[in-house]
Amino acid sequence: MDTTNDSMVSEFVLTGLSNSWEMRRFLLWFSAVFYMGIILGNLFIVLTVITDSCLHSPMYFLLANLSLLDLGLSSTTVPKTIFDLFTDCNIISFPKCMTQIFFIHITGGGEMVLLIAMASDWYTAICKPLHYLTIMSPQMCVSLVVAAWVVGIIHAVFQFVFVINLPFCGPNEVDNFYCDFPRVIKLACVDTYKLEFIIIANSGFISMVTFFSLIISYILYLHFVWKHSSGDLSKAFVTLSAHISVVILFFMPCMFLYVGPFPTTSLDKYLFIVDSAITPVLNPAIYTLRNKDMRVAMRRLCKWIMGPHGISK
Ligand SMILES: *[C@@H]1O[C@H](CO)[C@@H](O)[C@H](O)[C@H]1NC(C)=O
Repeated sequence: MDTTNDSMVSEFVLTGLSNSWEMRRFLLWFSAVFYMGIILGNLFIVLTVITDSCLHSPMYFLLANLSLLDLGLSSTTVPKTIFDLFTDCNIISFPKCMTQIFFIHITGGGEMVLLIAMASDWYTAICKPLHYLTIMSPQMCVSLVVAAWVVGIIHAVFQFVFVINLPFCGPNEVDNFYCDFPRVIKLACVDTYKLEFIIIANSGFISMVTFFSLIISYILYLHFVWKHSSGDLSKAFVTLSAHISVVILFFMPCMFLYVGPFPTTSLDKYLFIVDSAITPVLNPAIYTLRNKDMRVAMRRLCKWIMGPHGISK
């Protein structure tokens, strides 16, 4: 371990990885398989939306942008984890650790805004169909995507400025697979009480607000369907339950991680796997496999990729 007593820490040791050999092997396979799924699933969505002219509508643009953010979110941590597991090394340099934190929060924050945008799009399409085209204009769509990135960047910068100059002089072991605020600021050699408050007020707040906005939009939607469909809610419930499960899967770990108390157990690292590996796979599955236009477009893209000699059916 490369710490000198009187100077600053130049690297961190991710001790979350140094479990038993079986556990490491399991994690390696798990991460590799899920990462492949994330890359293939999300790239396929982006390609389908870009190439298929039938999918040039707000919903699909937002979906493709969500896939890009999902790719970004998992690529900030999963490849490094796979590499560490593969090479039996678990050291991360200080700049890389900070970069990881920064990108987790840009993509995570952006993703939250996009999820709200997609829920609003969905709500408008179903509950205000006559105004849909004027409300969800191409300009609106671009603004929502830009807003997602701007909010993500502001969200990340506003926590980062407080962390980047912290003195790290003592222990450098992070009990996790990756670097993130809650664990890393605990290692600073100053009292981080105020900083924990800033992180809770920022990351915790954005997670809670997004979660409750989404739940409220689902309730409004159900209320609308209930009033306009003479009581048959079963179809709405099926669609909604898929969305709600993904939202709960994504936000429960976020809220647990950032709405204190700050980590005392090692549950947080397993919760983060849900956000960095499981929801990025589930998002494409939920939003595409249940959608007929998307399935048709994907089949078209497949045929086109395989060419005339491909499997045709
Ligand atoms: C993201 O959204 C913008 C604005 O609607 C759109 O122009 C762009 O094509 C989308 N990105 C992808 C990868 O579809």
